Amino acid sequence: MYNANESRYDTMTYRRCGRSGIQIPEISLGLWHNFGEAATVENARDMLTAAFDLGITHFDIANNYGPPPGSAEIMFGRIMRSDLAPYRDEMIISSKAGYLMWPGPYGEWGSRKYLIASCDASLKRTGLAYFDIFYHHRPDPDTPLIETMSALDWIVRSGKALYAGISNYGPDEAAEAFKILRELGTPCLIHQPKYSMLFREPENGLLDVCERAGAGVICFSPLAGGRLTDRYLGGIPKDSRAAGGSPFLSSGQITPALLSALSKLSDIASERGQTLAQMALSWTLRHSAVTSALIGASSKSQIEDCAKAAGFAKFSGEELHKIDEIIRTVSD
Ligand SMILES: NC(=O)c1ccc[n+]([C@@H]2O[C@H](COP(=O)([O-])OP(=O)(O)OC[C@H]3O[C@@H](n4cnc5c(N)ncnc54)[C@H](OP(=O)(O)O)[C@@H]3O)[C@@H](O)[C@H]2O)c1
Repeated sequence: MYNANESRYDTMTYRRCGRSGIQIPEISLGLWHNFGEAATVENARDMLTAAFDLGITHFDIANNYGPPPGSAEIMFGRIMRSDLAPYRDEMIISSKAGYLMWPGPYGEWGSRKYLIASCDASLKRTGLAYFDIFYHHRPDPDTPLIETMSALDWIVRSGKALYAGISNYGPDEAAEAFKILRELGTPCLIHQPKYSMLFREPENGLLDVCERAGAGVICFSPLAGGRLTDRYLGGIPKDSRAAGGSPFLSSGQITPALLSALSKLSDIASERGQTLAQMALSWTLRHSAVTSALIGASSKSQIEDCAKAAGFAKFSGEELHKIDEIIRTVSD
């Protein structure tokens, strides 16, 4: 029987999520990789309970996480029931819909039909009574935004989720979504874009749009899938994402130019008293629009390393300049 660490709130730093009543931890844990059918329940349980013991109260899932799609929600539900259920009120759990879940014209994108059916299926898989945040996972070029946002509003009003979020929306479509949701009376809690030292696109307007609208920002893949860590400094480990045939990170992306940049970034991290992973997370959190860095992990020790980044988001102008110069040589 799991008993949460009594000092779990002593070291984590929490940030207010936009202009809302919710605070979320600077480091949040996502279940995109390493929680599917190939994962062991022991490792998944170790990671989730270790995270919670460190004050990581926010766990991010989506309908399609696995593989196969849906299996990460099933794994999460299993560990909720066995260990974390007594702590449900201390947790912010999110899920999403947007990517392909079932065949036919209602199995993906942004229709009301798909979003509501998918939210119901996600609740069933996790065994939860409600999600804290329900996201539209990616913009749909063909469905009127009012339909998708009205579906999110309805999901919140019907008690299936407490807050609405959007993910992967560009600045203009995000601004429009924020406006519609505000008018509907369900202000958007949070945007979830990809953001890291290797992928800085959100700096071209999105972060400002979110800040002005009072929406929080949780950036996904802040470690660039593991590249912004010491994982690849000595070669490509057999159990790493890049070695695992992931369509999102191939061994070909671990280039000599990247390794050279990583070694220089590592030196700056050491001078700051941080690991490279910790500095990469702090770097995303340096931006005033960013509420949380949403990490993935394959082991408890990675989560322990990452959690130590909380509370260290200050950089000197010189450090930022040096980092900019190094990452100019590499990009996603
Ligand atoms: N909204 C969206 O469209 C979207 C898309 C992608 C992700 N996400 C969300 O963002 C979450 C995180 O994405 P991500 O997994 O790509 O994030 P990430 O944090 O950039 O990469 C995670 C990987 O980095 C490595 N790692 C983590 N901590 C480490 C440490 N301290 N030292 C060395 N290596 C470390 C591990 O690689 P190994 O596995 O190789 O050990 C881990 O699997 C997902 O779980 C999901 O919730 C959302």
